[in-house]
Formats: sequence, C-alpha cells, structure tokens
Amino acid sequence: MEITVRRIELQDAPILAKIGRQTFYDTFIDTCTPADMDLFLEENFNLLQVQNELSNPDSFYFFAEVNGKPVGYLQFMEDYSGLPLIKQWKALELKRLYVVNEYHGKGIAQKLMDLFLLFAQQNKYETVWLGVWENNFKAQKFYGKYGFVNSGHTHDFPIGETPQTDLWYWKFL
Ligand SMILES: CC(C)(COP(=O)(O)OP(=O)(O)OC[C@H]1O[C@@H](n2cnc3c(N)ncnc32)[C@H](O)[C@@H]1OP(=O)(O)O)[C@@H](O)C(=O)NCCC(=O)NCCS
Repeated sequence: MEITVRRIELQDAPILAKIGRQTFYDTFIDTCTPADMDLFLEENFNLLQVQNELSNPDSFYFFAEVNGKPVGYLQFMEDYSGLPLIKQWKALELKRLYVVNEYHGKGIAQKLMDLFLLFAQQNKYETVWLGVWENNFKAQKFYGKYGFVNSGHTHDFPIGETPQTDLWYWKFL
C-alpha cells in the first residue's frame, strides 16, 4: 500500500471539510450529546470556515493519500495562543492529526508525523506541542512513541455544552 502526502490546496476545501467532519464525528461521538456534536461540526467544518482556514498562509495542511484518495490529514501552525508560556521557545503546534477509521493501524499517521517533525527540525523549532483529550489513550500512546510527554498543563476543550479537558503534550527537539 503506497501512502503519499501532499499539501492541501484551497480547492480541496470540500474534501477536507468532509474528512474533517467524518473523523471528528467518529472520534468523539461517544463523548458528547448528538446536539453538541452537530453544533460543533457545523461551526468548525462548514465550507466557508474550512476555506478561511486554508487561506491562512501561516497554517499548514497536508493530506495522506492511498491510491490518490485522501485518508487522513494533518494541520500545524506556529501559534502560541493556547498555551502562552510556551512562547519562551520557538514552538510549532500540531493542531490536528486524523486518519479515517478504516485506515487506522496502517502507518498513515506515522507518515504525517514524520513530515511534521521534519518540518519542525528544518525550520529550527525548539519544541513541538499538541493538545490531546485526556481520555484519548490511543492518540496519547501514538504521541508517546514519538517522544511527546505530558507537560502537566491542561486546557478546556468543550464540545458544545459538554465540558472536556485536553492535555498539552510537548517534545523538545
Ligand atoms: C491516533 C491516530 C492518528 C493514529 O493513526 P494511525 O494511522 O492508526 O497510526 P499508525 O498506523 O501510523 O500507527 C498506529 C499503530 O499501527 C502500527 N502499524 C500497523 N501497521 C502498520 C504499517 N503497515 N506501517 C506502519 N505502522 C503500522 C504502528 O506501529 C502503530 O503501532 P502501535 O499501536 O503499537 O503504536 C488515529 O488512531 C486516529 O486518527 N484517531 C482518531 C483521531 C485522533 O484521535 N486524533 C488525535 C487527536 S489529538
């Protein structure tokens, strides 16, 4: 199975919106109410919102594809707003890493993570960091394999009315 990675362009907004919705739904549907999920998806993955995000020159989006079909995506950006204390380092935030369910366990996320870490090294970042839901043990294990550790800092990540807590993980380069 050949996995390729490519930068997501503005014209890919409809497919990114679809994959973004599908993967967020599959990951979190059991953790909030259906109404909360509907609202979150509508606010975050409507076409205009996705087009706006893709138009941000500071934000990097990549698809992982199998036989030309997108099966996962990655977003990263230099953005210190979530955890201001990290500004003491040159820090790159991994904002989203999602693979569609049928393609889990096939090395798709590894390809995307390798690209992210290479970008961070080549651009002389001192640290990379990300937020992960406190009960998302699968993702935490995946990040742990790459040397990310729990920083001990958390933030609220509510889905609608459902409160959730994310852990900030980081890795120093
Ligand atoms: C967490 C997530 C991104 C991992 O994606 P993935 O594509 O399944 O990850 P990979 O296949 O690259 O690695 C997962 C495992 O498969 C193994 N694997 C199986 N077949 C493989 C192959 N052909 N090549 C490489 N690795 C393979 C990897 O070694 C790894 O082993 P581990 O579970 O012992 O660590 C994925 O589960 C996901 O999208 N989850 C839902 C969204 C989510 O939680 N995102 C994170 C939000 S913070």
